[in-house]
Amino acid sequence: MHDVLYVTSEMYPFSKTGGLGDVMGALPPAIHAKGAKTAVITPFYGRMNLDGHKLRLVYSDLHVGYPWPDTTAEIYQTDYDGISVYFVSRGEFFDRRHYYNTHYGDYFDNCERFIFFCKAVLKWARMLPSPPAVVHSHDWQSALVPPYLYFERQTDSFWKNTKTVTTIHNLAFQGRFSERLFHESHLPAEAWTMHGAEFYGDLNMLKASIAYSDAVTTVSPSYAKEILGPEFGCGLEGFLNTQSHKLHGILNGADYSIWDPCNDKFLPCCYSAEDTRGKLECKRSMLRDFYMSDQLEDKPVLGFIGRLRGQKGIDLLIDILPRLMKKDVGVIVLGEGDLGYEARLLEFMEEYPGQFCVQVGYTEDLAHGIQAGSDIFLMPSRYEPCGLTQIYALRFGTPPVATAVGGLRDTITPYPASDATGFTFEKPDSDLFYEAVMQAVQAWHDREEWQKMVKRAMRKEFTWDRSAGEYIKLYRELGARL
Ligand code: ADP
Ligand code: GLC
Repeated sequence: MHDVLYVTSEMYPFSKTGGLGDVMGALPPAIHAKGAKTAVITPFYGRMNLDGHKLRLVYSDLHVGYPWPDTTAEIYQTDYDGISVYFVSRGEFFDRRHYYNTHYGDYFDNCERFIFFCKAVLKWARMLPSPPAVVHSHDWQSALVPPYLYFERQTDSFWKNTKTVTTIHNLAFQGRFSERLFHESHLPAEAWTMHGAEFYGDLNMLKASIAYSDAVTTVSPSYAKEILGPEFGCGLEGFLNTQSHKLHGILNGADYSIWDPCNDKFLPCCYSAEDTRGKLECKRSMLRDFYMSDQLEDKPVLGFIGRLRGQKGIDLLIDILPRLMKKDVGVIVLGEGDLGYEARLLEFMEEYPGQFCVQVGYTEDLAHGIQAGSDIFLMPSRYEPCGLTQIYALRFGTPPVATAVGGLRDTITPYPASDATGFTFEKPDSDLFYEAVMQAVQAWHDREEWQKMVKRAMRKEFTWDRSAGEYIKLYRELGARL
């Protein structure tokens, strides 16, 4: 019935906290477009965007048996872009203000919440008329699905032809919990080994997923190599090296039906590589929205969108802001995250009214507005498994300045190459970042050459069709009958 089943804790437009949501809103439909019957299963969050989608209750009391012997789930279904989307509902786990954490930290029962989710997925999938050819899980929240399936496959012939794939979107989040939760998870005792779920005496859900999946992917070729070393391996590099035979790097794509200024419902006007004039109108509108000086209209404005965390190098931007403010440029930041960074940025806004603005929060339409309205996009990440915002920035004609790591390295052709689409600097260091930003600002002033770079960037294609082709190839190499 379903060839490929995706298991994920986020899916745009229903739920999203970052790139995982975008990927899961776009990859399954792209797989479907290649002829594979595709379904997604994800939690039913209380705070979900149903956006007119009608849900159908398909199970009212699916027996999950966790955390209590009589615990059940409800399963809902809707159609989205040709695929079936299933939602696992249990109010006490998923009807909360946030998905994973508040400002004060992670929810105390995250492990139980996602053990419950993974168990429910397996129970529901076992009731399907026929097994999926591939079960593909994403990140630590869905990570117990491949190990559960691996052990069930040994005794239940229903699963004998089902292949499992795990995608690591961010190795820093591993789902590491105390040993007690390993016993609660009901994984068999043989999984408690350094080759399985155990990690320095703790349960490591992502590690278990890597150990028991038929293949493991990360979201860019560079990151697939980087995580094999100590700098980016987050402690798992030794283990990953033992699994490198099944590790693949498949670059994400961009959903151009959502992220393209020639057809963007959030923008005041459209533009394209053939006619970029509308970009200036978008800039004016952004400057107004953020109460920025209209004198910035003919000065470079630099935009940043992302989680305000160490990963994204927001501290590097904070470091160089006083220097930047002495130059004739404007800076706009959209993000939320560490309270310390939020507070520091808000202070800057008071210090530099009209020239610097931060919007603390998570707002989809403003993200589009900044992509279109800025001249230069800032992405000084310490590490970046893929990064989608720089791919969007290219399409919006906003050349990025980024650290040469992970997916940033794989998607930006750095200045001064004749086919440059942006600017990179070698490592996350404030001075190197500042130099690269200044290089971009200088290049911006050569209006003719800049326009050429803008158009080159806009013409770059990172389609999901290409990525989907690579995933299908991998599924077939594993022997999945697709
Ligand atoms: P990551 O997944 O590491 O956060 P990505 O670049 O892959 O980074 O994806 C980030 C996604 O989240 C993009 O769609 C981006 O527009 C969106 N995003 C990040 N921060 C915000 C915010 N504060 N408001 C709106 N969208 C945001
Ligand atoms: C993670 C990574 C980001 C990637 C996204 C989608 O959140 O931090 O680099 O683009 O997942 O794969």
